[in-house]
Amino acid sequence: MKILVINGPNLNMLGIREPSIYGDRSFAALERFIKDSAAELGVEVSLFQSNHEGEIVDVIQSAYGVFDGIVINPAAYTHTSIAILDALKAVGLPTVEVHLTDPETREPFRRVSYVKPAALATFAGYGFDSYSRAIRHLAGLAATKQG
Ligand code: DQA
Repeated sequence: MKILVINGPNLNMLGIREPSIYGDRSFAALERFIKDSAAELGVEVSLFQSNHEGEIVDVIQSAYGVFDGIVINPAAYTHTSIAILDALKAVGLPTVEVHLTDPETREPFRRVSYVKPAALATFAGYGFDSYSRAIRHLAGLAATKQG
């Protein structure tokens, strides 16, 4: 199974960015963690990060027919982007939304997720483990389908 993991704006600043909220581990550490988690589950993983909404839309579109599922942390675009929601709906791939923190417990403007309607599940507030939970979720669905 092939999963595309997409990270949105400012996640490349992990470790530097508001460490009291996001922790002191770097984005490179997150990427290593995702690769190791996928390998443990026998899942092939590709990683993509962008600070640009249109690039995220492009990569979602190009996942069609190539990947079996998407794990996405749209970061701030979670709370603003109908374009990312529409792209996820357009390709129709099994998608799981992830967040390092739990946006529901933060500022009111983070309580809305535009992406949620396109996601089978959301894992939020588990730090790096949100990603391993999401990959496990998609791998479990694939295993159920194969019987
Ligand atoms: C985030 C939560 C968002 O509200 C925020 O804009 C981010 C990161 C998270 O992973 O906790 O950039 O998606």
